[in-house]
Amino acid sequence: MNDRFTAPGKIILFGEHAVVYGKPAIAIPVSGMRASAWSETGENGLTINALDLNEKFSITDENNQFSVLAQSILAKTNQNEPNLTINLSSKLPQGSGMGSSAATSTAVCRALSGYLGVNLAENEISELVFDAEKVVHGTPSGIDNTVVAYEMPVYFIKGEKPETFEPGKKFFLVIGDTGIEASTKETVSNVRDNWKKEPGLMDGYFDEIERITNQGKIAIEKGNEKIVGEMMDKNHELLNSIGVGHDKLEKLIDIAKDTDALGAKLTGGGGGGNMVALAKDKRNQKKIQDAITEAGYRAYQTSFGEE
Ligand code: MEV
Repeated sequence: MNDRFTAPGKIILFGEHAVVYGKPAIAIPVSGMRASAWSETGENGLTINALDLNEKFSITDENNQFSVLAQSILAKTNQNEPNLTINLSSKLPQGSGMGSSAATSTAVCRALSGYLGVNLAENEISELVFDAEKVVHGTPSGIDNTVVAYEMPVYFIKGEKPETFEPGKKFFLVIGDTGIEASTKETVSNVRDNWKKEPGLMDGYFDEIERITNQGKIAIEKGNEKIVGEMMDKNHELLNSIGVGHDKLEKLIDIAKDTDALGAKLTGGGGGGNMVALAKDKRNQKKIQDAITEAGYRAYQTSFGEE
């Protein structure tokens, strides 16, 4: 009881949306921004107390992320509903492309399985969280629950065992938040509509994103930050082509580029939410963050790989 169970946010570096159509994508955990959950004795069954939302969810609530998650966990572990309250708090903005739903579900999954005394492996947690992700996102690829549950960089293809990879150096990123909450369910569904209207054109874009993702992976492994930045720019153009851009994303990307970022793109579902910029080094990272903040937006620093 009262032990804290946490899970990180995530950033997609390459391949969002195309990943829903079987193409590869690359994502990294954002370990500095986390959801955390802790349990205390409750009454009348299981309650998830989402403190930031000021909302409580029970296991019988229909079509809800946490009720679906709790039911899946109890079914998998053959347990009855406990009298328990799981408190939940998250540093991750909702509807921002940073994996808030996967992180909150993963933290709750860890708290509940911890209370029940069952040890779940990362792949089992990822699968349970995927059930909840379907409620939130409709037809998710599974990349968010994978990167969040494993908490490691992943090269991900839907339905395949996730691969990890070793970055050739430390990469410094800035995440900029447009402040526009966007539903991934909606942007994924808009892309699906565009694909139904013009399948040839959209498949061409997805093929191009696949090439960029694979080149991006090689450049990350070689520590070639210039190419990684170029690939991020190209990926962003293609995300605009498939219809998930937003004026505010362009604004933040322009600020980052004017502050010497090596590349920048939207990250996650798009239509608002966050962008991610690759900085040249730690100093440049601070400059980009300051420039975005001075323009009136929230910005965070993160990094991946070893120095
Ligand atoms: C959301 O973080 C990433 C998308 O590709 C949707 C998905 O993969 O489920 C937009």
